[in-house]
Amino acid sequence: MIAAPTVDGEAINPLRAGLPPSDRIEEPCSIVFFGASGDLFKRMLLPAVYSMRLNGTLPTDFALVGFARTTYDDDGFREYCRAQLDAFMPDDKKPEGSVWDDFARRIRYIAADFKDTADFVKLKNLLARNDEEFGTGGNHLFYLATPPPVFPEVVRHLKNAGLDARDDGAGWTRIVVEKPFGIDLESAQALQREIEKVFPEAAVYRIDHYLGKEPVQDIIALRFANTIFEPIWNRNYVQNIQITAAESIGVEERGGYYDHAGALRDMIQNHVINLLALVAMEPPVSSHADDIRNEKSKVLSAISPAAYDEVADISARGQYGPGVIDGQPVKGYRQEDAVAPDSNTETFAAVRFCIDNWRWSGVPFCLRSGKRLARKVSEIVVTFKPIPHRFYGASTDDIEPNLLVIKIQPDEGIAMRFEAKVPGPKDHVRSVYMDFNYGTGFGVVSPPAYERLIGDAIRGDQTLFTRWDAVERAWQLVTPILDVWTSSKDFSFPNYAAGSQGPPSAVKLFPDWRQL
Ligand code: NDP
Ligand code: BG6
Repeated sequence: MIAAPTVDGEAINPLRAGLPPSDRIEEPCSIVFFGASGDLFKRMLLPAVYSMRLNGTLPTDFALVGFARTTYDDDGFREYCRAQLDAFMPDDKKPEGSVWDDFARRIRYIAADFKDTADFVKLKNLLARNDEEFGTGGNHLFYLATPPPVFPEVVRHLKNAGLDARDDGAGWTRIVVEKPFGIDLESAQALQREIEKVFPEAAVYRIDHYLGKEPVQDIIALRFANTIFEPIWNRNYVQNIQITAAESIGVEERGGYYDHAGALRDMIQNHVINLLALVAMEPPVSSHADDIRNEKSKVLSAISPAAYDEVADISARGQYGPGVIDGQPVKGYRQEDAVAPDSNTETFAAVRFCIDNWRWSGVPFCLRSGKRLARKVSEIVVTFKPIPHRFYGASTDDIEPNLLVIKIQPDEGIAMRFEAKVPGPKDHVRSVYMDFNYGTGFGVVSPPAYERLIGDAIRGDQTLFTRWDAVERAWQLVTPILDVWTSSKDFSFPNYAAGSQGPPSAVKLFPDWRQL
């Protein structure tokens, strides 16, 4: 019998070999969540922080401050947090016992109207108390999870209260900014001007939770830690690249926000364009945050924003009508809460971009995202060129192009489609897949994106956060499309049924989408 592998006499899971034993963050800090009574905090941010406490990554010297308009005292907010964790954490991670007790005593709350510097001065005093009582070392992470119009106000008051950026050996101050960063190019630039009066770029962490997903981080490893992909990762071998971020859910409770946003702003301008940049960029000179972010910006600057009269050729929009999801009838977008009954907002957007550089000239990059589609799937599909000459396989066989599929969700992994001979005396070939799955490959469940990103912000690693130049470029790329779509009503809306593949115009734009 082969003995199980051990380290210091302890049996180890061979699938976990090579993984770091602990990722505990050593830097102490207080995290302040502006908007701590909101939806994002209760569903994503608080569970991420508590889970970091449970898995040992959170620094030992830590404090959490909630800051919102709703009235709570510290104990009331602790109870609120406990109830949210009860609701949103899995059964084996419920808040209880000494771990919860220690976590809870480090939670404090400020009820504020956001318009008064006095409330931010209170915050400053509270942070000083945290430093004394919890050893948080003067390190302050401010997380903006309020509605975006409130961001500039918070930043201004932080400065007025003397809580602006510093990194002076006696502690640091950093700011995490939720998406959307602006609602168009102009408002994004205005927000940036406000932020840079108070925080230098090195202290600004613009969050895009897609960058915290493991398979998205793995794009760089796939491309640059292997020999076999990079030589064919170019116009000589690649026919096209498609990027999909499809959802089967509708707008849920966020109709009020979404009806002013739409799919192009909500998903393409940030998540999907970030995926495009990672898949298309040149090799960075190192894994340093700015070396990677330089390459992402460079490749985005090689895409030209469309002229207004090109918009119809390079884009498609859709809006869902009633349909069926998982066997259940669901309503159409215009019947959703807080959505205008004659809304012209797109719930599906598709765009075809060209990257004008040596590597990608002539290769279409087709992006699509939508709500109430047939299933939830986010993936990047690289389709390779057809074989140059065919001598194998019966003439009736379809020889399909090779595909590399980066599966971001729901089944995280990488799949390669290639042709193989069908066993038997005849020369038939057919497509087969080599399939790698993170779960079986590494024997661990990938940490949720927000855990990774909050951890990186505490560590001071900006690699997975979007730099201002890339945000600005992404807005420049979508602006002509937004302008045309806003100024012209689409009379075909609703033009796809909930639960379908999306509008027919998307197929006209690009006929080879993978089936959802
Ligand atoms: P909510 O409306 O649920 O919560 C907003 C929070 O901000 C509340 O704590 C609210 O305080 C506070 N707030 C402060 N000033 C105002 C104001 N003038 N108007 C309204 N609320 C105010 O928003 P979400 O939690 O959904 O979103 C927060 C941020 O996260 C937004 O920037 C959003 O775009 C982003 N985001 C959210 C996602 C989600 O799934 N929810 C996904 C991706 C990004 P109080 O309630 O105490 O008055
Ligand atoms: C958010 C969008 O940024 O991403 C939502 O605002 C969308 O509308 C969500 O539902 C999708 O994220 P994920 O991780 O579920 O693909």
